[in-house]
Amino acid sequence: MKFKVITFGCQMNVYDTGRIERYLVAGGHEAALTEDMADLLVINTCAIRDTAESRVYGTLGRLAQFKRERPGRLVAVAGCMAQKEGVKILKHSGVVDVVVGTMAIPRIPSLIEAAAAGLGPQVNISRSEEDLFDEPEWIEKSFSNEEGERQRIQRYPAFISIMQGCSKVCSFCVVPYTRGKEVCRPPEDVIAECHRLVRQGIREVTLIGQNVDSYRYEGVDFADLLLRVSRIEELSRIRFTTSHPKDMTPKLIDTVGECANICESFHFPLQSGCNRILDAMKRDYTVDEYFEKLEYIEKVFGSRGQDPFAYGISTDLMVGFANETEQEFEETLEAVRRARWDSAFMFKYSPRERTAAYRWEDRVSEEEKSERLARLIELQESISLALNRQAVGRVAEVLVEGIPGYDPEQPLERIKARTRTNKSFSLNLPEDPEGMPSVGETAYALVTDCKPVTLRGEFVGSAVTV
Ligand code: SAH
Ligand code: F3S
Repeated sequence: MKFKVITFGCQMNVYDTGRIERYLVAGGHEAALTEDMADLLVINTCAIRDTAESRVYGTLGRLAQFKRERPGRLVAVAGCMAQKEGVKILKHSGVVDVVVGTMAIPRIPSLIEAAAAGLGPQVNISRSEEDLFDEPEWIEKSFSNEEGERQRIQRYPAFISIMQGCSKVCSFCVVPYTRGKEVCRPPEDVIAECHRLVRQGIREVTLIGQNVDSYRYEGVDFADLLLRVSRIEELSRIRFTTSHPKDMTPKLIDTVGECANICESFHFPLQSGCNRILDAMKRDYTVDEYFEKLEYIEKVFGSRGQDPFAYGISTDLMVGFANETEQEFEETLEAVRRARWDSAFMFKYSPRERTAAYRWEDRVSEEEKSERLARLIELQESISLALNRQAVGRVAEVLVEGIPGYDPEQPLERIKARTRTNKSFSLNLPEDPEGMPSVGETAYALVTDCKPVTLRGEFVGSAVTV
């Protein structure tokens, strides 16, 4: 069958989509370039907030038409909502043939086969930990069609999962229930996957997990793992996400500082600037403890006041949790002014079934949450913009992620690149195409202009050799 996967949610889902695709290809299916061309549509879902689930149901709502257009078409639902809702998805939507949970991805080809054979809807949300990191054998030629072309060119970000699930119990979060408890991947497997990506020409990888700092496999901690990955010389950049403030160690920060190919960029979610709320969230750190770690980062990498590219730092923030008062919300605004994050993912608290906080009273109205979120976004954007303005006139090292004509679907007018500090950088086409770096190469670029999330500029000097 020709298939297409639609992805919602976080980087873990983006990674899982790659796994789903590889399993389907290994099962004899072929990737389709567009939804129209597909006989099988897989929706890889997110359940983190109510809005995420509504978006998925919205998509499922229009799929009755997709199925009517061509008899025999199938719809599969994967990801966190599949795990959380199970058979309920079949009833709710009426169009779904296969429900496959976050821990059953290797089972997807056999489920599709059974549904295609007319055996009725198939559901597998088993919590087996046996093959959480298994990969079907990589078949280069399986992506030799048009979709393969897209796969080949969309190289960044290249995610590598180093762990699955989460064993923390943040009182608002559904992830431990949709992805199970934390299971770490053997270091040899992580290294082998890095080598596989290197063979495909990839030069930058991002190691991902819900809480990478708590990685531990037979005495190897996350700093040790990073050090091992950094020895792969063909990798010019290594990133990682997400760092939990409780588990982030000076050893990790030092390791980042010592290895030239590990990017000095941290996604470091604070969630709230108020200690009462952090306590209610069961985050296990205080605001001061968070800022102590931030100070250590600054000590190792230098001040962004002097060098805007000294290091990159971003966060996640939530408003309206645990009956947050106006004063408590203002403590979060104060933290934004103090931390001066490059960027932040900002959310309204959304009660999730099965979490500890679900049973608590939620007295902050939707309007209040929206109003606080708007104020928070406004403040953070003004800081992001101020930080970027400070970078105008400076030179940064960038890795080229996309060049015009490289992506046949989306001809670019400009060159897409990224700084080590994880800022997206949009570059003018150089007058002399001879000197233009290729995708995956690093070069120096001068910042001439900016928006809150993007720097703009032009190449200066030649490609950096690593
Ligand atoms: N460990 C992961 C967390 C994944 S969830 C990480 O640190 O990246 C990503 C973010 O979604 C969280 O940091 C939190 O800010 C937000 N989030 C999680 N549950 C939420 C909820 N119930 N309502 C609103 N935002 C939530
Ligand atoms: Fe969720 Fe907290 Fe884990 S936010 S993913 S329970 S670290």
